[in-house]
Amino acid sequence: MAAEKLHDVPENLSEEYYQITLDIMGSFNKFRPPLNLYRFREDVGRIDTFYKAGGRLTNEQVEELANLVTEGFIFVSRSDHPIYVKHISHQLDLILVDKNLKESEIADIIVEALTMRLANFLDQPVKALSDRLREDLLVLTEYLWHDVHRIRGLMRRLHQNHTLAHHSFNSGVVGLALFLRLNAEDFKKQTIKRRMFDNLTTGFFVHDLGMTKIPQFVREKTQRLSVEEQNKVLQHTRVGYTMLDKLDLRYGEVEACVGDHHERLDGSGYPQKSRGMDISFFGRLCAVADSFAAMTSTRPHAKAMAPGEAAAELVRDEKRYDSRITKALAALIMTEQVKG
Ligand SMILES: [Fe+2]
Ligand SMILES: [Fe+2]
Repeated sequence: MAAEKLHDVPENLSEEYYQITLDIMGSFNKFRPPLNLYRFREDVGRIDTFYKAGGRLTNEQVEELANLVTEGFIFVSRSDHPIYVKHISHQLDLILVDKNLKESEIADIIVEALTMRLANFLDQPVKALSDRLREDLLVLTEYLWHDVHRIRGLMRRLHQNHTLAHHSFNSGVVGLALFLRLNAEDFKKQTIKRRMFDNLTTGFFVHDLGMTKIPQFVREKTQRLSVEEQNKVLQHTRVGYTMLDKLDLRYGEVEACVGDHHERLDGSGYPQKSRGMDISFFGRLCAVADSFAAMTSTRPHAKAMAPGEAAAELVRDEKRYDSRITKALAALIMTEQVKG
């Protein structure tokens, strides 16, 4: 557990520095912490440098440091935020115990962590890497569970340029924002099942895992795809669906997102050409999040659309997209500050 804050520090210091706990300290390299550490000297009411990044601590210093941390005397500078983001993103659960981080700092860390986990997993879609991704997704759901409005910070941090990992991150965040908005009442009444929420979140973020079996040059091709290449791409939902067993992700919510996100209400989608309410709700939801994420990022063959414009186009496309969902998206874009 996080160490208790034992000593009060002057207000003006907490603007610039924040106290580090034993959990955080334990996540650093013991002898070579990745950033400067500062010590608060109670006697003179001032902060001094205890350790400079790039140096090496002696055994005695490591011991002294542990004592000082326990007593609440060790701080890091907020100006080291970029280094800290990189560091903590490798151990995302620390955001749940570090009480000093601001919401905006936590949002940066989540973006960094999930984008990295997605890139690793999509590069090599094996169970060990989907487990790491899933662990971090569970930190995200835990974080949102306590305050659903925290999704706003992530909506402001969508990626602009297209990679499969960026697209997956954006679809995941938009899918979650939509789900939270459509179920705001149930979240208030706490009637949402946590397991369902965890699995649905996973489904949104991995919906395109079947794309990993399509050669990168096809995925990133700017010219028209050949018929053969097109057929390959059309297979990605089925391919993804079959990958779920090996990854231990065979959950109904994940199946719906992976299998149904290209189905369209009028039967013009794939792979089943399902129609209307025959398409699972999570599949319809993922379809809107996926299309919006694609339309608003710069892709090899198309420019990025403004978020408002993309949402309006999806609302107009009521033959193919569930209008209850697209209207929720439009409302979301109107009220939130979405990066575009
Ligand atoms: Fe897809
Ligand atoms: Fe997609």
